[in-house]
Amino acid sequence: MSQGLVTMSYIVASILFILSLSGLSNQETARRGNYYGMAGMLIAIIATLLSESVTAYAILIVALLIGGFIGAKAAFKVEMTQMPELVAIMHSLVGMAAVLVGYANFIDHSSTLSGVEKTIHEVEIYVGVLIGAITFSGSVIAFGKLCGKISGKPILLPGRHLLNLGMIALFIWLGNLFLTGAETGGGLWPLIFMTLIAFAFGVHMVMAIGGADMPVVVSMLNSYSGWAAAATGFMLSNDLLIVTGALVGSSGAILSYIMCRAMNRHFLSVIAGGFGSDNAGEAAEVEGEVQSVDTADVVDMLRDAKNIVIIPGYGMAVAQAQHTVYEITKLLREQNKQVRFAIHPVAGRMPGHMNVLLAEAKVPYDIVYEMEEINEDFPNVDVTLVIGANDIVNPSALDDPNSPIAGMPVLECWKGKATIVLKRSMAAGYAGVGNPLFVHENTRMLFGDANESLQAVLKGLQQ
Ligand code: TAP
Repeated sequence: MSQGLVTMSYIVASILFILSLSGLSNQETARRGNYYGMAGMLIAIIATLLSESVTAYAILIVALLIGGFIGAKAAFKVEMTQMPELVAIMHSLVGMAAVLVGYANFIDHSSTLSGVEKTIHEVEIYVGVLIGAITFSGSVIAFGKLCGKISGKPILLPGRHLLNLGMIALFIWLGNLFLTGAETGGGLWPLIFMTLIAFAFGVHMVMAIGGADMPVVVSMLNSYSGWAAAATGFMLSNDLLIVTGALVGSSGAILSYIMCRAMNRHFLSVIAGGFGSDNAGEAAEVEGEVQSVDTADVVDMLRDAKNIVIIPGYGMAVAQAQHTVYEITKLLREQNKQVRFAIHPVAGRMPGHMNVLLAEAKVPYDIVYEMEEINEDFPNVDVTLVIGANDIVNPSALDDPNSPIAGMPVLECWKGKATIVLKRSMAAGYAGVGNPLFVHENTRMLFGDANESLQAVLKGLQQ
């Protein structure tokens, strides 16, 4: 394929990626957005395969088959609840790819670049390996935290900000050594030292972040992986990789900003790492009487209610209760009751997690409300059904300055007339903090797996 045709194909793929991103920004167009993305990626792979620069077809095809097989297997096997871990581990692969491409470029002596061009190429290698290494180790730790293999509690080393600053100073110093050393053939050691320090930097940064702040970390690492891909594109002189990497990098940065706003955190302190963990005191213990109810009580409460709000959380995803929830919603709406869904921006374990589940169950979009659209309305709500949610309905985020989730806006359902919480036990949520909502005078607890409880409620309502 001629270079002109390859460039044309890359432009078409870039446009499809942009359309894909814009499609993914809305539930109604998300499916189309995915198709655009798939088409763009197919065109990109075919154009790269047929480009003149590719000669080692055997290696490429074997790599494609291995990568395709692992990707397809993971995609078929992964549960919806494991999606965030999968995304985190995929980010780590992008980071590692940037590191390996950087080393391969550095070791490759066939390059004919000289003067300023050569220096620019070396800076690309250094920066690419740096971002890639931080992305790799940070994503591996994020993976561990998301799947519970590493504790969600922040691990704070003494003087951690100084340590971070020290590492940044080392990156600059080693960068200088690398560039001067590269002229004389001695650049490899500074590059290796920098890589090791960058691995440590990624680990330190993510380890210092508390459980409830993980959403920002996930989107931030998403952004880093984009910049790592863009850096790889510079090293390989591949325009499509640069454009795609920049798209992922900037959209991830925007998502991080939105997440920060949703959780009331500062963007800059997120980039520096270790944010949201400076609370001096201990979170207050939750004391009070738990009022548990049975299915029949819940059925009665729903029958009497006119204005109902449903708050789904991570537990709904675990129980796969979204279809039963929608069956109940349909039944209640047929009885002329107002039923709405309230979605917290960090509900579940990935951005848009609840929206995806509700869309899968075919819940109409016009009864699904964002937190800020519905929070003011709770005093008028007769019954709020909290389905497997915990941190996102925790009043201590507003009342307890020592709570790890202090300052995070939450769904203020306790202001309504009655709240029914469906969960299996009194266990804490992802942030590991007690929830005073469960002992609030207007709260009733329906213990059990959310799907089983809701099936029983549905049966009761049908009788
Ligand atoms: P959580 O605070 O994690 O609470 C979920 C609750 O669901 C748990 O308390 C659990 O209680 C219950 N549960 C689990 N399985 C259940 C089942 N089968 N049936 C009924 N209940 C079940 O979830 P949330 O309120 O959605 O808040 C999300 C949290 O995750 C926030 O802290 C957020 O910062 C964090 N996070 C979010 C993201 C993104 S991007 N959304 C990413 C990483 C972390 P039992 O064990 O007692 O049943």
